[in-house]
Amino acid sequence: MVAGPAAFQDAGPARIPAFFKPHVQLSEYLAQADALAHEARALLDGLDPSTRLDVAKGQLNALKDDRLNALQGALRVLAPEDRRAAGTAFNTLKTAIQASLDAFSARQSTGRASGTFDATMPARREWQGTLHPVTLVIDEICEIFRELGFTIALGPEAETERYNFGALNFPPDHPAMELHDTLYLGDDTLLRTHTSPVQVRTLQQFAPPVRVLAPGQVYRRDFFDATHAPAFMQLEGLAVDEDISFVDLKATLAEFARRFYGASRRVRFGPSYFPFVEPGAQMDVEVDLNDGKGLRWVEILGCGMVHPNVLEAAGLDSEKYTGWAFGMGPARIAMSRYDIHDIRLLYDSDVRFLEQFAR
Ligand code: PHE
Repeated sequence: MVAGPAAFQDAGPARIPAFFKPHVQLSEYLAQADALAHEARALLDGLDPSTRLDVAKGQLNALKDDRLNALQGALRVLAPEDRRAAGTAFNTLKTAIQASLDAFSARQSTGRASGTFDATMPARREWQGTLHPVTLVIDEICEIFRELGFTIALGPEAETERYNFGALNFPPDHPAMELHDTLYLGDDTLLRTHTSPVQVRTLQQFAPPVRVLAPGQVYRRDFFDATHAPAFMQLEGLAVDEDISFVDLKATLAEFARRFYGASRRVRFGPSYFPFVEPGAQMDVEVDLNDGKGLRWVEILGCGMVHPNVLEAAGLDSEKYTGWAFGMGPARIAMSRYDIHDIRLLYDSDVRFLEQFAR
């Protein structure tokens, strides 16, 4: 190939072969530096912001590296009086390329922020649901009582006054009914205030021996505060047979507490009043809610010997049969188990709170 201006043209504007030295013109040099700055800018501006930075740099280097080297080499072969101006243009070119690159990476990060797809972003963790702590507690209690020979019984949440109160030995207009602030659905229909109606329904349906556990939602016209909720779960237990005594009740519930809380947790029984049991009692468990107030007793269930009037109302001979019953609040039990000091946390559906109990 013939050496000369034609060969320079053929090799592209950036290539300035050494043999062409004397002919490099300042105007040509400046034009090439300017062209390269524009092309680098156009390249980077044209890239999608989701392009990875190393990919963008690779494309930029392919465009500029040879031409930048050539322009640097050409500095030495320019006429001495032109070198200062060319040197300035060379530095300006390098600054301009860097500025275009900076603009690209800035666009990249705002692109990410505005939701543009970014293949480099870590994947989102797969979200898996879990059972609510109250559900976990109910399942665990049902399992313990299943081992003790109990089966599950269910009853309606919309009840009649008779099942919710009358058959449970609440005399008409007895002040005890005010213990339960009832939500009425109609004259004789109400939202059950406890699961005890299931006692009567079960005894009407099944002949003794009966050992059932009845979990279910109950409703009361209560304020929603740290220890009360207007709708909550209860777990009713009932054992009816011949020769069942208070000893059976105490032994069964103490055994439940041992299995549920562990042998080291203290429980105690004390007298209490419910119209449908005689005698009536409550079981407390000792807890430290980690709120700085130390150990305290928390009532977790009411219990007692089934009142003869309840057995009779269900059609049983109270001379022949005896029994005991209990009703517990799984939310309170979850609080005593997991040191939760505000019942509302169990209703907030805040996943950050709930997922701590995931199993
Ligand atoms: N039903 C009672 C309540 O809601 C609890 C209870 C059930 C008490 C069974 C004694 C026997 O408070």
